[in-house]
Amino acid sequence: MSTALPIDLRSDTVTRPTPAMRKAMYEAEVGDDVLGEDPTVNTLEREAAERLGKEAALLVPSGTFGNQLALFTHCPRGSEVVLSDDSHIVQHEAGASAIIAGVQLRVFSPAAGVPSWEEIRPRIRRDNDIHVPPTSLVALENALSNGQVMGLPEVQKIAAGAHACGVSVHVDGARIFNAAASLGLEVSSLAAPADSVMFCLSKGLCAPVGSMLTGRREFVELARRKRKIMGGGMRQAGVLAAAGLVALRRMTLRLAEDHEKARQLGEAFARTGLFEVSPIPVRINMLFVRFRGPHAGKESRFVEELARRGVWCYPPSDGWVRFVTHHDVPADRLPATCRIVGEAAAAAVA
Ligand SMILES: Cc1ncc(COP(=O)(O)O)c(C=O)c1O
Repeated sequence: MSTALPIDLRSDTVTRPTPAMRKAMYEAEVGDDVLGEDPTVNTLEREAAERLGKEAALLVPSGTFGNQLALFTHCPRGSEVVLSDDSHIVQHEAGASAIIAGVQLRVFSPAAGVPSWEEIRPRIRRDNDIHVPPTSLVALENALSNGQVMGLPEVQKIAAGAHACGVSVHVDGARIFNAAASLGLEVSSLAAPADSVMFCLSKGLCAPVGSMLTGRREFVELARRKRKIMGGGMRQAGVLAAAGLVALRRMTLRLAEDHEKARQLGEAFARTGLFEVSPIPVRINMLFVRFRGPHAGKESRFVEELARRGVWCYPPSDGWVRFVTHHDVPADRLPATCRIVGEAAAAAVA
């Protein structure tokens, strides 16, 4: 059993606020944000909008809140949202789309792991047939929950196609800064084709709480009203926004370090010769593995062997084990982590 602090690779949501964030939170100037009087929230909303290249932005409590608020704002009740079946909105938001926006989710399984316009186009329904729910939104993810990244040309193609059909596009960009870093693009370029983009301050960017919903001014003002309906109007939220500003200004600049750690971890898995690794190449701070051939099905045992050695990850899902690197996984502990991967794999298949 390891006595060192665990290496927590469950998610980048486990990151803790940095000392600079805690200081900024302590010193934050605050006011009543529901009255529009919190200067720190106002600064965060302005800087987030500028960074994403959008007219306006709104601070919301979580990524789930931001996505569901986007649907609630874009979509008439009873309309349909087209999106990938493994997207966070479908899999991990507790069915909120049916409860809050009252929409139907029309899902598809992207053949290449990344949605294409060819897959979305036939699912858009805008005719006058009274039997048919009209499509109101296409929802994309970038980066995707499967560790993939959508390139700018595909996002542009989907947005242009959807817009030509009179359908808006929302991007769940919980990790859009990771996607932009992976593609070597400014985040504003990647966000440009979408009508709204949600991004999280609280994952790889280390803020304790908070996500931003960005878009056109009129959209964000409507979302502000709907945020109140959802109980998301926060008062002296500048304490949180202060950490968010550190996240936005500084922590967005270092994500390539986390991607490099994930790449090295991917190589460690590949070196064992026992695992299938996805995606190849590793694109962001997230990778998935499963045993190949005769050892398939031993993933739970592998996760237990890792935990015994102080490396944490979530139990397998659909046979795949996910690993997420982040700020709080020190680079100097990576060699030991890679060694433990080999030992735990050998123990699991013994
Ligand atoms: C792709 C994606 N979207 C949305 C969310 C939701 O964020 P939150 O946990 O802040 O609600 C997550 C959370 O991990 C996510 O991975």
